[in-house]
Parts: sequence; structure tokens; C-alpha cells
Amino acid sequence: MSIFSLLRSWWKEFFSSPAAAGPTLRTWAQKKNIDIGVAVTAHHLRANESYRTIVAQEFTMITPENALKMGPLLPTVGTYDFREADEVLAFAKKHNQSVRGHTLVWHQQLPAWLPLETFSVIEAQHVLDDHITKVVKRYAGQIGYWDVVNEAVADDGALRDTPWLRSIGVSYITNAFQVAHAADPQAKLFYNDYGGEGMNKKSDAIYVLVRDLLRDKVPLHGIGLQMHLRPYEVPIEEIAHNIRRLAALGLEIHITELDLRLALPATSRDQEQQAQYFEDIFQLAIAEPACRAIVLWGVSDATSWIPGYFSGYGEALVFDEQYRPKAAHRRLVEL
Ligand code: XIL
Repeated sequence: MSIFSLLRSWWKEFFSSPAAAGPTLRTWAQKKNIDIGVAVTAHHLRANESYRTIVAQEFTMITPENALKMGPLLPTVGTYDFREADEVLAFAKKHNQSVRGHTLVWHQQLPAWLPLETFSVIEAQHVLDDHITKVVKRYAGQIGYWDVVNEAVADDGALRDTPWLRSIGVSYITNAFQVAHAADPQAKLFYNDYGGEGMNKKSDAIYVLVRDLLRDKVPLHGIGLQMHLRPYEVPIEEIAHNIRRLAALGLEIHITELDLRLALPATSRDQEQQAQYFEDIFQLAIAEPACRAIVLWGVSDATSWIPGYFSGYGEALVFDEQYRPKAAHRRLVEL
């Protein structure tokens, strides 16, 4: 490599990245004493320089978007593949970022080959215990927060009918926290869900679930509110109320998967509303001492999961398809 191309690549790396232009979420978060996180994939970190630069410069915390789920970790019978997760964790370490582990027990992205429905209670319990122990032990000291159980409550407030509930019974929840705690007593353990951000049947059920876990001395330390929302879908006062009742239980609160999707094509009014709702949520988070992290579910509109899962929707994040900061980003760094 010639000295010129070397200089040019250094220049590109340090000065001409899209995120380097102005104030960052990272410096904002450090000032406010809260973590600002982002869901990432090893693939994009590897392949895309703008993506990599934004993750390094804008965030204090990282969540592997898929790499720590049971399916991706166990692609074939009994053989773990930790490569993607290791790669994301190495990036976090290099950039002095904390890590949220997502997620140990979920009903989606399970290994396709795992015939849970044919297992006895004891066999299913063994599979789950073994998985939690292996993964949590491997990353002890590197992953400070785990979403131990994800989405165990249905929208009507009943326990969700999942392969884990069917194969093990209700004890799978308590047990998962106990096993994770034994594997890494330092890690903070979370219950994570969507749709329970405001005040409704689901958030009431989640409240009762976590209150009872705490009453039974189950090692639960926090609650994750996913927040995949449309702007103003949930009144901000309701979220504040819900956060306060959870905080009163002594739980730490993380906003774990924030994105605010817009119906496409979005108008400038939609974008303005979105920026305002982002601002309201961030204001709420920094005003509540129990709220310790806000995690965005993706880096930019180019990599967000939204268009693939909510047909007709998109533009849900704070960097656009070209990795440029949007109105919401400009507002947030000035809060
Ligand atoms: C999503 C990922 O973003 C997608 O890439 C994947 O195909 C499906 O899962 N709630 C969760 C997350 O807890 O794990 C989900 O992530 C989004 C909804």
C-alpha cells in the first residue's frame, strides 16, 4: 500500500465518516449517565464501513440482534457456533461498550432440528438448563445484562403458549433465572417483552409476573421494554406511569428494542412527529433514575428489521438509508 493510499484510508476512517460530523449520542449518553445501545449483526459490522463507524462512535452499549438466540447458536444438532456472537463481542470490547445478551429463552428462532414436543419434562428441562449454563458461563464477565426470558406473556395477559410452556410447564420461567444466576452471579437478569409499555392487560400481567418472581426471591434484576412502536401509539404519560410502578419494585429498566415505524411513504409531518416522540421517550428515560439504558433496534433505516416484518412501514430509526443522522438524531443529541 502506498503512503498516499494509507493516508487516504486513515483520513476516511477518522474524519469523513457520516457520524463524525457533529455531536454523538454517545457523548450525550455519557453526560446524562445512561447507556445508549444498538442492535447489531456481525455481518454488517464486517461489510459496511458507515455502519461500523456509527456503531463505534454513537453507542455505549451493544446487543447482538440475532447471534445469541438459540437457533443461530445451535444450527445443527448439539453443535454450538459462537463465531458471530464472538465477533460482535470483540467489537464491543475494542470500543469499550457494554453488552446486553439477547436472549436465552424465547419461542422464536429456536433450532429447527429441536423436537421439543417429543421431549419429556425432564428432557426439555435438561436441554434448556444446559443451554443457559453453557452460554451464560462462556460470556461471564463480558455480558453484563441478559434478557433471560423473552415474550412469555401473551397480548391478553395470559402466559403465552410456547414450546417451553408446553414441554416444561410454568416453572420454566423461574428456573431459567435461577440457572442463569448460577452460571454468572454478576450478570443482571431481565424479563423482556413488547406491548407492555403503557398501561394495559399485558403490562398488568407482566407487572404481576415480575412482582411474584421478586416475592419468591427469584434472581431477577430488571425489565426490558422493547418499544417497537408507531409515533404516539402509546401516550407518554402511560409509559411513565408503567415505568414508575416497575421501578417501585426495585427493578432496573431498559428500553431494549426501540424503533418508531412510519407508514411509507412518510411525510415531513410524520418525520417531525417521530422526532418528537423519540425526544419524549428519551426525556422520560433520563428523568427516571431506574431507567439505565435505551437501545435502538438497528443502526440505520437500511438495516432495520421493520420493512421485512411490518409490510408498508419503515424509516423507524435515527440514521437514514444512507447512514446520515435524521431529524430525531439532531434533536436527541441536544437534549
Ligand atoms: C428480530 C430481528 O431484528 C430480526 O433480524 C429477526 O429476523 C427476527 O427477530 N422482538 C425481539 C427481537 O425480541 O429478538 C426481534 O428481533 C424483534 C422483536
